[in-house]
Amino acid sequence: MSEQSHPLLFATNNSNKALEVNHILGNAFKVLSLKDAGIEIDIAEPHATLEANAREKSMTIYTLKNIDCFSEDTGLEVEALGGAPGVKSARFAGEPSNTEANIKKLLGELQNKENRKAQFRTVISLVQKGVEKQFEGVCKGHITLQPIGENGFGYDPVFIPEGSTKTFAEMNTAEKNEYSHRRKAVEKLVDYLKKMAS
Ligand code: IMP
Repeated sequence: MSEQSHPLLFATNNSNKALEVNHILGNAFKVLSLKDAGIEIDIAEPHATLEANAREKSMTIYTLKNIDCFSEDTGLEVEALGGAPGVKSARFAGEPSNTEANIKKLLGELQNKENRKAQFRTVISLVQKGVEKQFEGVCKGHITLQPIGENGFGYDPVFIPEGSTKTFAEMNTAEKNEYSHRRKAVEKLVDYLKKMAS
């Protein structure tokens, strides 16, 4: 991979997401989080789709700072719940966003349900010179009966990806990235950036 001459700004306040993305990119691209770039902003996620929310975040930062950047929005889509919580994953149990309450509600709604199939879906929105492009990553798996593991964030303790017997919260960052929705989307982003640079 070639070095980017300018660091790419990742429009996120989530340090876990920044850690995962930096782990994937290694030395290939330098990525700065909003905090690294000294930008303090809480961007709303008011839309009905991951695509629109991801675009909102990257376009907000681009418009404000006039620098190329990318953002991402992720949702947990549970088959037996018709794709919920989906775009509402962060606030599934209401405002303010509370991970424990979200997990409790999810496990409650899946009680006595045999079908525990779910997927994480990430949409990355890249804005360069005002032009937007999106990249998607999906990780299929299932929801456990109870939370297991201490690592990661969000719904990690209740999600086991296909091909593993461990929840994301039992994995370290490298292991999670072997399966992860975010890794798949980031790789598509990197392929695109490499093509543009060549
Ligand atoms: P957002 O993309 O920050 O809006 O995240 C939506 C919700 O999904 C939040 O509750 C996050 O904690 C959760 N979430 C996002 N990515 C992951 C992940 O990789 N693992 C587990 N939960 C996640």
